Parts: sequence; C-alpha cells; structure tokens
Amino acid sequence: MKFDRAAGQNPIDQLHVVGHPLDRIDGRFKTTGTAPYAYERHDVVPHQAYGYIIGSAVAKGRVTRMDVARAKAAPGVLAIVTTLDMPALKNGPRNTAKLFGGPEISHYHQATAIVVAETFEQARAAAVQIETDYGHDESQFDLKQAQHGARSVPAADGSRADRVGDFEKAFSASATRLDETYTTPDQTHAMMEPHATLAAWEGEKLTLWTSNQMIAWNRRDIATTLGLSEDNVRVDSPYIGGGFGGKLFLRSDAVLAALGAKAAGRPVKVALTRPFIMNNTTHRSATIQRIRIGTDRDGRIMAIAHESTSGNLPHGRPEAAIDQTKLLYAGPNRLTAMRLAVLDLPEGNAMRAPGEASGLMALEIAMDEMAERLRMDPVRFRILNDTQVDPEKPGRPFSQRHLVECLEHGAEKFGWSHRKARPASVREGEWLIGMGVAAGFRNNLLTKSAARVRLDSQGIVTVETDMTDIGTGTYTILAQTAAEMMGVSIDQVRVILGDSDFPVSAGSGGQWGANNSAAGVYAACVKLRESVAEKMGLPPAEAQFSGGNIHAGNSIFPLGQAAHEGELVAEDAIEYADVDKRYQQSTFASHFVEVGVNGFTGEVRIRRMLAVCSAGRILNPKTARNQVIGAMTMGAGAALMEELAVDTGRGFFVNHDLAGYEVPVHADIPHQEAIFLDEVDPLSSPMKAKGVGELGLCGVAAAIANAVYNATAVRIRDYPVTLDKHL
Ligand code: MOS
Repeated sequence: MKFDRAAGQNPIDQLHVVGHPLDRIDGRFKTTGTAPYAYERHDVVPHQAYGYIIGSAVAKGRVTRMDVARAKAAPGVLAIVTTLDMPALKNGPRNTAKLFGGPEISHYHQATAIVVAETFEQARAAAVQIETDYGHDESQFDLKQAQHGARSVPAADGSRADRVGDFEKAFSASATRLDETYTTPDQTHAMMEPHATLAAWEGEKLTLWTSNQMIAWNRRDIATTLGLSEDNVRVDSPYIGGGFGGKLFLRSDAVLAALGAKAAGRPVKVALTRPFIMNNTTHRSATIQRIRIGTDRDGRIMAIAHESTSGNLPHGRPEAAIDQTKLLYAGPNRLTAMRLAVLDLPEGNAMRAPGEASGLMALEIAMDEMAERLRMDPVRFRILNDTQVDPEKPGRPFSQRHLVECLEHGAEKFGWSHRKARPASVREGEWLIGMGVAAGFRNNLLTKSAARVRLDSQGIVTVETDMTDIGTGTYTILAQTAAEMMGVSIDQVRVILGDSDFPVSAGSGGQWGANNSAAGVYAACVKLRESVAEKMGLPPAEAQFSGGNIHAGNSIFPLGQAAHEGELVAEDAIEYADVDKRYQQSTFASHFVEVGVNGFTGEVRIRRMLAVCSAGRILNPKTARNQVIGAMTMGAGAALMEELAVDTGRGFFVNHDLAGYEVPVHADIPHQEAIFLDEVDPLSSPMKAKGVGELGLCGVAAAIANAVYNATAVRIRDYPVTLDKHL
C-alpha cells in the first residue's frame, strides 16, 4: 500500500484500542524469566556446545603466529577456529570493522579465535591456552591529537561545509557573539543482554537464534560474510534485552558461532563477555564541537555555525553531531561541517539518537550561554528563535512542529518561573540548587515495512513480521493496531516477531520502528478486511469491524465465520514511494531539570526531571512513557557519568565493564515526568504517529549541565560533568 497523505480519517482514528495505556504483552514473560533470549534457546536444537571468543591483544598490526596445540588438547574441546585459518571474510554493506579472518588487525579485541567445547568453562579454560604472536604497526588513538590531521567530510554539495548566506560576515557583524568548544566522550551502549547467538547448520542451511535489532540486515550480512545464499539463512530474534544501536549490525558472536558450529559439527552458542563487547563491537564516538552563534540586539540569531570532529577507523563514518543544528533554530546565515580523524580504536557507530544526542549536548549548552550573554531567559531565547520552516530550505515547512508548545507547557509544569537567573544564588544547607532547560530534536524517518496477518475460524488475528521488540513495546503496539483495524479485543490478537521467515519490516532503529512497523500492520489489515468482506459478500467500502464482528447494513457476522473454510491470510507493506520532500519530518521536546550540587564535595544529585514531547499520535502512552523515562535516565548517564576511558598508549577502552563504566541506578533518578502533547501528524503515516524512543534522550544531558551551571556558576563544557571539573 502506498501511503496516501491526503486520505484523512481511517479506522485507527477510532482509538478503541490504539492510544490506550495497555500493559506490555511481553512484560510478564520478561519479568518471570520465561521469555527465551538467544543464549537460552535450550529447546530449539539438541546437542548444543559452547563457544568462547578471544580477541587481539594489540590494536593495530597482524597476527604472526597462533599456537593452538595445548588448547586443542584441553578437556572437552571440540573445535578451534582461528583467524589464520581463512582469508579475511567479506563484510556486508553495514559492517565497517573486519569481523574475522586473515592476519590483519585493525582494532583491539578484534576476534582472533573461537574455542568450542562441551561446557562454557571448558571453552574459556582452553581459550586462554592459545598462544598468539603479533606484529605492531604505528597507530593513533588520541582524538585531541588526531583532530589536527582530520579530513573534511564532504557536505551535501561536495564542499567542506554546508552554507546558507554568509556566516563569517554575519557573525562578525553580530551584536552578541559566542564561540565555544564542547567535548563529548566515547560511550558504550551497555545494554543488559550481551550480544549472543546460537548457530546451527543443517547441510548448507544456517539458523541463527540471536539478539539483533534489524533482522533483514543481519540475514543479508551474514550471508555475504559467510558466502551463503540468503535463502539458506534464517535469523530468529523474538526477545532482545536492549540494543540501543549496538545490535543494529552483524557482530562477531553470530559469525563465530556459525564458524564454530561448522567446525564442531554441533550447534554452538556464544555470548560475548562484557569486556569483549566494549572493545570488539561498536561504541558512540567522542566529539569535539565548536559552536559559534551571533545575534542581533534583540536576541535573534543572525549567524550560527556548528563544526564537529570525531574519530573512526579509516572507512568509518563521523558522528553526525551537526544534524540538529541544520533544523532546530532560525537564522539567515549558517554553516555546518564535520571532520573525521582516523583512529585505530574499535569501530564508532550508531548509539541511540546517533548525531543528535551528541550534537545537542553541545548546542544546548551554547544556547544557554548565549541566553545568559543576552540577559534573556533561556526558554524565551529558544522561543524567539523558533522556525516553522527548514532554515536551510526556506519554504519547506515541518509536517508538525510544536517546540514552542513543549517549552511553554514544560516551563509552566516545572515551575520555571521560580528559577533564579543569577547562577549560584539558591542554597539549601550544603546544597546549591539549580534549574536547567534544553530543547530536544530528532528526525522522524519513514521507511517501508511489511507484515502478514492471519484470521482463523475462532476470530483470532495473528500478526507475523520480522520486526523486533528491543524492550520498546513493539509486541503491544502492533497488537493494538491489529485489534483496532479488525475490530477485536487485544486478547484476540497474537503477535509473532523477529523471524526472517516473516515479511521484512522497518526493524528497530533510528526511532522509526513504532510508526513504520505499525503502519505495515495497518496495510496488511486493510487487505485482510477486504478479504473478509468479500468472503461474507459485503461491500468492502461499507463494511465495519467492531466487537469481533463484521457488519454492513442489516448484516452482521462474527469475524471468524469468514475463515470457516480455511484461514484467511493477507500480506502487505506500507510504502512511502512518494516521500514528500516538501515537508520536514521531525520530533521535538523540551527537557527541564533541577539539580542539587554539594557545595563541599561537588557531587551532583538530580532532583527532578520533566520532558514534554511533540511526536504525533502516541500509540500507547505507557510504552511511550517507558521509552522516554528510560531515555531521560540514559541522558543522566551521559551528563554525569558515562565515559569510556581511552588508553591512548595501547588503544583500548580501559573501563570495559559495568563496574568501571558507570550508568545511572535508581538512586540517581528520584523523580521523572514525561508529557506528550495531544497531537496527530497525518503526514507521517496512516498511524499519524512518530518516534519517541530516541527523542527522549536528545537534549537531556545539556539540560542537566545547564542546571549544574545555574546551581554553581561553573560552566563545564566537557562531558561528563564530574565533580572534579567544578571544584
Ligand atoms: Mo538506534 S542507534 O538506530 O538503534
């Protein structure tokens, strides 16, 4: 089905089931330990063996020798596969770092071998007996040093920067100016469930029970990497214990489980250890961001520039920290540019809201600093510089943009009027109290998504799609969509996800999952409604679906009657072939935070957090809130604690476990509130919804940093805002 944005009303708008705060269907399974995760698929295939992966102890160079004799003789060992046993495997289009094969090493903990044994302990004990010799190459691990040799990442027109108007001239003519540099550190996803795969071969056919956000990408990439036909690969990932972008792509757990299984002639399961995840897989790259803003006397932005430098492997991409600056504020003269420094660290890649999450950490401190220079309230400064059109392409409106409402409503709810503009002027005992605000922004991406729906004679509707639920609530919102469309209650719907045998969905990434995958189920249900009407001899245009019945005129039948002679099956996809470049699709938020900073120790305690989101129709307020408060928690981590420490001598992340890499715990997050503006976006999809899962993170860290400044009068421009930086 092609999305027709002029279509207007549709059955979803009834909101009998969609839009209601239903509990997560998978919640009971996950909390009672009965949801099978990849490493726990004990039942799917017999004689499972255990794989243990080891990685390179050098960051750049080559493996010159691997001696596996002792490891092979160790108890329980079934097979060993080393990187010297085969040439470099081919990467699918989505992988940058080499996954396995050949002697060349491009980053620390690149996989070098898998040991397969009867038990996990035997595999691990044998793995440490493998002796490996290396040759070292010269390398660079330090972004601060490497930034001077960074190359420009070409802008849209191939030049070194995207420009509108004449930034330099307008900036130097501005009445008030800011020119500051901000840094964000490397971060890791730190999802609860590690990357894990159980692999089994049946002749040439490979099945992977794995933990992955994007089933179709994963299937294609494993086929490319192992030289298989895609038809011979099945990927199944029904439950995922978090991903945050770390499980978008094929990783070594899947590749080496498959190779190990082939070598051992047994199914093999592998879970990456936490230290291995942190250096073997991907991370969010550190950035150095220079921001310049110039305004006229009234505080209107006349010139804005955002330049970001990040590092990555030679073929890696930059962290797109400039993205939101292209669209968030008005201003006739603009410049955005990125530079990429070659670093020999592990691969930098997508982590929740890649680009905007890092970019807003800088931009929204800069906006706070600018408001202060103008002696203007920071909420008012942002409202003054709102734009209803794409500032790089005037005349091109946003499909919906309620940033001003987010800011105004948030200020009212939070009690912003009680904030003291002068920093360090509120004290409660030994605590300095401050409030901060930031805007949130994240684009809304439209992408094709397919589903199949079945109707049986009992009136049960079954949804099948390769869509994933990474803890986001997908099972529930897809069930709600099918229930609404077919006029049945939620318990008449079954949803089966994550299997590559099912139609290809949008997958879970870039906060596009909810809107697009639900729209795919909508499309399939439109088709199923037609089949049901036809079967019952009712005119499809007049048929109504409600209360488990189909009715038209004086005729009414139970839905299941249409399937009496056999199940009815319909499959379709939502397609945006005519994606309208006339509109910019984005989501918006305001974040308000109150902190206390201890006047003696400098420790920061968050006291209150509020997010107000503008993201189209909210399909389920409970699952959406769950996403936003989780994202706000992640933002608290980004602001105050998260930082991968780089060993700039040996090229690895030192704090490679959850003891050294700190993330927030319950005690760090005392009070959160998430509010969704009551709106629909008819230009986004038939669901009229947009994404919230990444929006909730965007801007949070800056709101915290701004609150810390308001509390202490110490401006910290280097994340995380740790106590050593303001003592
Ligand atoms: Mo998201 S970083 O696209 O999972």
